[in-house]
Amino acid sequence: MTSGASPLPDDRPGIVDRKAEHIRINLEEDVAAKGVTTGFERYRFVHRALPEIDLESVSLETSFLGRRLDAPLLFSCMTGGTARARQINRTLAAAAQRHRVAMGLGSCRVLLEHPEVLATFTVRDLCPDVPLLANLGAVQLNLGVGSAACRRIVDLLEADALVLHLNPLQEALQPEGNTRFAGLFGRIEALCASLEVPVIVKEVGWGIAPDVVAALFDAGVAAVDIAGAGGTSWSEVERHRIADPVRARVAAAFADWGLPTADAIRLAREAAPRGILIASGGIRGGVDVAMAIALGADLAGSAGSMLRAADQGDEALDAAVDEITDTLRIAMFCVGARDVGGLFRDARLVETRGGEVDPGTVLTGARWVHRTAPREVDVAGGAP
Ligand SMILES: Cc1cc2nc3c(=O)[nH]c(=O)nc-3n(C[C@H](O)[C@H](O)[C@H](O)COP(=O)(O)O)c2cc1C
Repeated sequence: MTSGASPLPDDRPGIVDRKAEHIRINLEEDVAAKGVTTGFERYRFVHRALPEIDLESVSLETSFLGRRLDAPLLFSCMTGGTARARQINRTLAAAAQRHRVAMGLGSCRVLLEHPEVLATFTVRDLCPDVPLLANLGAVQLNLGVGSAACRRIVDLLEADALVLHLNPLQEALQPEGNTRFAGLFGRIEALCASLEVPVIVKEVGWGIAPDVVAALFDAGVAAVDIAGAGGTSWSEVERHRIADPVRARVAAAFADWGLPTADAIRLAREAAPRGILIASGGIRGGVDVAMAIALGADLAGSAGSMLRAADQGDEALDAAVDEITDTLRIAMFCVGARDVGGLFRDARLVETRGGEVDPGTVLTGARWVHRTAPREVDVAGGAP
């Protein structure tokens, strides 16, 4: 999720250094949001002592971008451009194939000017059967990157979709950031109309409010990843890169910024009852995934936790994914949800206030959005 203001070719070391720093900072520093949480802790599932299903009959399967997934999970877009990034991408992609979950790549902008870094992004050989997402900062559409360049990225990587990230706060805090966000919505809309593959829009950890979610679906995006607050804070990441103490304090002021993930997903589902929604931002375990889906998400994405596991290698990443899927399966069993759709339709949640359960809030996600008809989960056809 990087962008540079200086002209190429001198910019390349800047981009590459920044990507390397982002990985290092995420692995070594405390980059968690502070003073804001995902909000999942405000909800509790109503335990079902008589689930009337067998644990072994619980199915985590779903589909996304026309491909079957064994679990409703996504390795959120992270990296590319450096040797270490290549290793991380290849570890993630191989695990995505083993576990049949979706795989996101980091910002591919550097590829446009420096095709020689292609190998740091190329993973299709390792994950031929899973949804593969290319990624670009949306602001690049205001800086000369058009649909031909987007198409080139998608083709080079054999991706199933292009994810555009919205990160105004990060760009504002980055010394080299691009903050020309005026008129971007129209460019996203035009790209959706001209690109052959689905366009997905995500934030990077501050959430997307429901009016923007609705507008994005109207503009033709195929899915929205609300990427809410409570997990990795990119103002905290950038704070660690800033030498000037005043600017570092400016970054610190945003440690609690953003719409919590649980609120963002619930509001997004209300605003877009039929849109494909991805929940991310602080998703750490299988109960978080179950909660995100019960609140309205179709898939759950995780970046920081998966990066830390992938950095330790295949076994650690396998263990991390197995832990999430085992926990998710048991959570579904204990709320009587036979499948992923059932989590949203039937699982009951209560909202807690100040730690106290408010029995008046016992509801299913489906009741919250007053839905009557079942929703299509696949986005193979592009815009819903
Ligand atoms: C090392 C790292 C690099 C990232 N780079 C990108 C990127 O290039 N494009 C993007 O859309 N998001 C990027 N992200 C943001 C994540 O996709 C995600 O939205 C954010 O970290 C919140 O999720 P989390 O709390 O699970 O980490 C990156 C995250 C990490 C940890």
